[in-house]
Amino acid sequence: MLSHLLHLRGIESVVLEKHPRAYIERRVRAGVLEQGTVDLLEQAGLGERLRREGMIHHGIQLRFDGSTHRIAFEESTPGRGITVYGQQEVIKDLIQARLRAGGALHFSVEQVNVGDLGGPLATISFVHEGAERELKCDFIAGCDGSHGVSRQAIPNDAINVFERTYPYAWLGILARAAPLHEELVYAYHDRGFALFSMRSPELTRLYLQVEPGECLESWSDERIWSELRVRLASNDDFRLNEGPIIERSITGMRSSVVEPMQYGRLYLAGDSAHIVPPTGAKGMNLAIADVRVLADAMAAYYALGDHAALARYSQTCLERVWRAEHFSWWMTSMLHRAPGDDAFQQRLQRSQLQYVVRSRAASASLAENYVGLPSDWAGKAPERLNSHF
Ligand code: PHB
Repeated sequence: MLSHLLHLRGIESVVLEKHPRAYIERRVRAGVLEQGTVDLLEQAGLGERLRREGMIHHGIQLRFDGSTHRIAFEESTPGRGITVYGQQEVIKDLIQARLRAGGALHFSVEQVNVGDLGGPLATISFVHEGAERELKCDFIAGCDGSHGVSRQAIPNDAINVFERTYPYAWLGILARAAPLHEELVYAYHDRGFALFSMRSPELTRLYLQVEPGECLESWSDERIWSELRVRLASNDDFRLNEGPIIERSITGMRSSVVEPMQYGRLYLAGDSAHIVPPTGAKGMNLAIADVRVLADAMAAYYALGDHAALARYSQTCLERVWRAEHFSWWMTSMLHRAPGDDAFQQRLQRSQLQYVVRSRAASASLAENYVGLPSDWAGKAPERLNSHF
């Protein structure tokens, strides 16, 4: 995405990808695009398939004690919604756009090393198609995740890392079954959280809270479906359509933030700088918000020689990042059952859920965070959000 945004501003870049193209185009990841993400993809000329295949949602459902409650986005965030469109579809569109424009994309790159981060030009060495290569560059964008080389290249005493791990994980499946329900359902249940989502009119995406360290082998298809049936059960007409499971995985849940998101000529973006638990559906959106800021800052630098926006990069991004960290932690804590939680804790969770669905202010707050903050959020003066208050 960064490479594409830079290209639109006439700035050259080289993308180094560790995996083969087919792998990243197929790997099932996140699937919820905030309004700001959709708008940016559209503005960047990447909206054609997204408009055709993306599924626009104007609300989500919260389910507890068998009752379903809708959080309507349109009441509190008029004109803003979310679009269900798989991350790997975004990846496919981006790769195609970069290759069409003659962009330099190298797949299956190995032995990447970054250096001279504090010098006049940074270096990246790597092996591609058996040949050793080195690039000299003005900037390096570390978009390689929390275990990537970028994050590792920063000395520990140059950053602060803030972390939280959660005592549960998500077992996710993709099933060849038509989603019979139009909106996502987040279910709080005594046996643990469950989520009903989708990828297309033929594909249902479902998640179950499981213990961390749980192995997939102990979850037969029948066990997965029966657990989903119990946790997603409702006293309305919700029906879970079952079908062959075509993908399954278990993901741990953690929150983490690296401050600052920059070291010399290296700028961290996305998961290399911050991780959120998936409950708020924020991960991909935060990564895209980072690179929008970075592309604008680099454009100001090349057009005007203006360093100010680059110098503010970390601070600008971190305002949004911490809002998303809080929202994701809050959704996660409200909806999951932690081992050792007592009856008091469960009463608190139920009370919070009831408040969120009954109070216009509380549901507006959830909706506003869920659809995503506007792109000019950072540095905004405090103000009343909308006419309901
Ligand atoms: C998904 O469809 O993969 C998904 C949706 C909502 C979430 C997390 C994941 O909160």
